[in-house]
Amino acid sequence: MIETNITKMFGIKHPIFSAPMGPFFTRDLALAVSEAGGLGVLSNVNIVGTDPVDEHKASIEYMIEHTDKPFGLNILTSRNNPGVRQMVRSLPRIVMGNVKMRDQCKYWLTSAGSSRILAESKSFQELRKNSEVKHFHVAPAVWLAQKCVNSGVDGIVVTGTEGGGHQSYERVSTLVLLQQINKNFPDLPKIACGGFATGESLAAAISLGAGAIAMGSRFIASKQSEFHEKYKGLIPPGNPQDTGLYTGSFGPIRLYKNEYALSHPAPSSKEEMIAYENSISPEQRVKDLGAYDRVYNGDIDTGAVLLGQSIGIIDSIDDVNDIIERIINKAENVIRTNSSMLK
Ligand SMILES: Cc1cc2nc3c(=O)[nH]c(=O)nc-3n(C[C@H](O)[C@H](O)[C@H](O)COP(=O)(O)O)c2cc1C
Repeated sequence: MIETNITKMFGIKHPIFSAPMGPFFTRDLALAVSEAGGLGVLSNVNIVGTDPVDEHKASIEYMIEHTDKPFGLNILTSRNNPGVRQMVRSLPRIVMGNVKMRDQCKYWLTSAGSSRILAESKSFQELRKNSEVKHFHVAPAVWLAQKCVNSGVDGIVVTGTEGGGHQSYERVSTLVLLQQINKNFPDLPKIACGGFATGESLAAAISLGAGAIAMGSRFIASKQSEFHEKYKGLIPPGNPQDTGLYTGSFGPIRLYKNEYALSHPAPSSKEEMIAYENSISPEQRVKDLGAYDRVYNGDIDTGAVLLGQSIGIIDSIDDVNDIIERIINKAENVIRTNSSMLK
């Protein structure tokens, strides 16, 4: 077993988290990851047009019905995310009112917007005071990690540009970002994310100051994930070069290069990206939304297929238990071998 500050913080067996993957459902995946000893995360699914509070509530109820293990949830705090205010106000109250929810829904991960929105919510402050819940925020750059620290987060998810799906304008690799953030915030609890899929990479993340890894693409290619079989099928033969960084209605995003991705711009600067995002018409927004529905139903050509460069190191679609066991065994071997080099 590998014990870290993060496994101790959440009372979990393994330092492995599933990454949030909205607007797709990840209930069964989160359940499988938590049951296997990691920490599963419920995604913010409201972009598909449903009520975000109801969706999260239903997912939390599903989790506590099927497992006694800890789990987490994601709230996208972007201005463009409808319902964010209701989520930060209502969800803490709902969780506070149920002992099992309060004890198990421990990991509150915000991303893609300000880390302050949840931290400033009165109901979340109340929940935090009366439970063991922790607030983490995704930080894709040192200056953004500083903002998280200013908001009083309990930790950060350090996500580099090779990661799949929702991205930032920063384009710093996970390797460099982890070193930078570790140097600037040595005591801040960190979860490394973006590009992880193997035991060797877990051992590397720990060496670089992280207490756990979070994986998206690796877990999409699992028997338990809710993604369409055609979506999963793209991963084992995929290469890092099959993905690219594009932009659209939801900001920078790493996509599999299909017809949908190639119909979007891939600007190289933050300024160009923001200029394009500001120029998106309401009609284009509706079209972009449709791309998520399409891919959910298996259209991997004109749908938005969010994947990371890590697809280049994933060879098969596996059971979540096997994925976690294999990664932990390998990481333990690597850590042992490395320490045997010390003379
Ligand atoms: C299908 C998909 C959807 C995603 N949606 C979200 C999201 O809703 N919120 C978020 O913070 N990150 C989102 N991301 C980013 C992941 O949380 C994570 O950073 C990424 O998957 C890490 O890279 P990896 O795929 O190499 O593991 C998404 C990623 C994927 C692949």
